[in-house]
Formats: sequence, C-alpha cells, structure tokens
Amino acid sequence: MNVTIFKDRDELQEALAETICNISQEAIATRGEFNFVLSGGSSPQHLYKLLSSNAYKDKIDWKHTYFFFGDERFVAEDDPQRNSLMAKRFLFDFLKIPAAHIVKVDTSGTPLEAAQKYAKTIELHFKNNPIHFDLVLLGMGDDGHTASLFPYATVLKETEATVKSVYVEKLNMDRITMTAPLINQSRNVAFLVFGEEKSQALYHVIQDSKASSQKYPAKLIQPKNGKLTWFLDAKAGSLLTHSIK
Ligand code: 6PG
Repeated sequence: MNVTIFKDRDELQEALAETICNISQEAIATRGEFNFVLSGGSSPQHLYKLLSSNAYKDKIDWKHTYFFFGDERFVAEDDPQRNSLMAKRFLFDFLKIPAAHIVKVDTSGTPLEAAQKYAKTIELHFKNNPIHFDLVLLGMGDDGHTASLFPYATVLKETEATVKSVYVEKLNMDRITMTAPLINQSRNVAFLVFGEEKSQALYHVIQDSKASSQKYPAKLIQPKNGKLTWFLDAKAGSLLTHSIK
C-alpha cells in the first residue's frame, strides 16, 4: 500500500492525473485498451475536469479507453444523483466519449436486475476472461465506506458475486455496487480522499490495525496482485503518523 499526502487538493489532483496517464499508456501499449472504473460522489469532479482539460486531454488515448462505474445510485439515468451523469458533465461531454465506451448501470428494471445485468455486461466486455480493471478510482465517505460498501452491510461479506444491489438504510436508497472481491482483482486501485472530515475514518482505515473492516469497509480494498495507492491531502491525512507517510 502506498500512501501519498499532498499539501492541497490541486497538487493531489495533478499527481493523480499523471498517474492515470501512466497507467493508461501501459495498459494500451500492453493490452490494447485501458479499462477505467470511475468513482462517484463529489471528490472526483475536479479531477475529471482536469483530465478533460488542455493540460491532459491529449495525454490519454481516449479512443482505447473504456469507462465503468464502481457504484451507481439506483435512480433514472437523467437523475442529478447519477454518478454517470456527473461523469458525463465533467468528463465524457468534453472528450466526446462514444456511448459504446461507457459501461453504465441500466436502472430500468429492478435493483436485482440492474446488478445482474451490469455484472453480465462487464463479463462480456472482458470476453468471459478474468476481470482485471487497469484502474479503479475510489472515494471514501467520512464513515469509511467506499463505492456503495457501507458499514455492516451484508455485501461486505460477499466472496463470489462481482456486482450487488444494496439498500442503504441511511440514504433510503438502493445502490448498485461492485464488490470488494471484484475491485481487488484490479491491477491498480487509487483512493482520492481530501478534507478534514475524512481524517478520522482514514486513520482507522489505513493505520488502525484493530479497526474492523465491517465498521470501516474501505479496509476491504486490498488488491490481490494489484497496486493500492492513497492520494490524500494534508487535511485528510492529518492523523496519520510519519511512519505511514
Ligand atoms: C458515491 C460514491 C461514494 C463516494 C464517497 C465519497 O456514489 O457517492 O461512490 O463511495 O466516493 O461517498 O463521496 P464524496 O467524494 O462526495 O465525499
């Protein structure tokens, strides 16, 4: 596990954008495509704008890039809460990414159907070979959740399924989420976490070996053969001791 702490969000996002470029170049050169799982929430919005800016838009071969979502809110495709709509606004529209390169969650049926269909669509993209995303970008809530893996949820104990539908009591909302086993098959996982309000949970996730992954689900993200990197700003990392930095 690599933990990198940057003085502020701008420096963090620049470093993460460079890392994404490097990963994409290796993936496309080696395997012909870059399979990139996007995070939802608000943290990545500026990063997506940066990736589609003049500084970065020509550094990644978007024609060979395929986008997925680590999780999705179970709402209509045009609902402002959709992670895919946020990505469209801040990334896809600027880069003119074709729909065929965006693997979205279809929420036209039931949550269970959405999860089963999304899992199947991912399998088909990987031509029924083992699913190894080149990069999974994740955020973390101030309760230590990631994707839609929330504290004490049944999905945290999932060992086989790749995608599950979950009802999140505190949000009164169904979500579709990739499971920890699927995320842990990835070649690279990068957490993007900034802000003082995340520092407590971050300490328990990264440094507190006694803390339970049931209480802090982000602890479940331990790529089997992949690289895990935490991109933090100083405020989020303020409770980490020097030894981890
Ligand atoms: C979502 C995300 C979720 C998010 C965290 C952090 O659908 O909301 O997948 O896991 O990454 O809740 O959210 P912020 O970036 O808004 O703090």
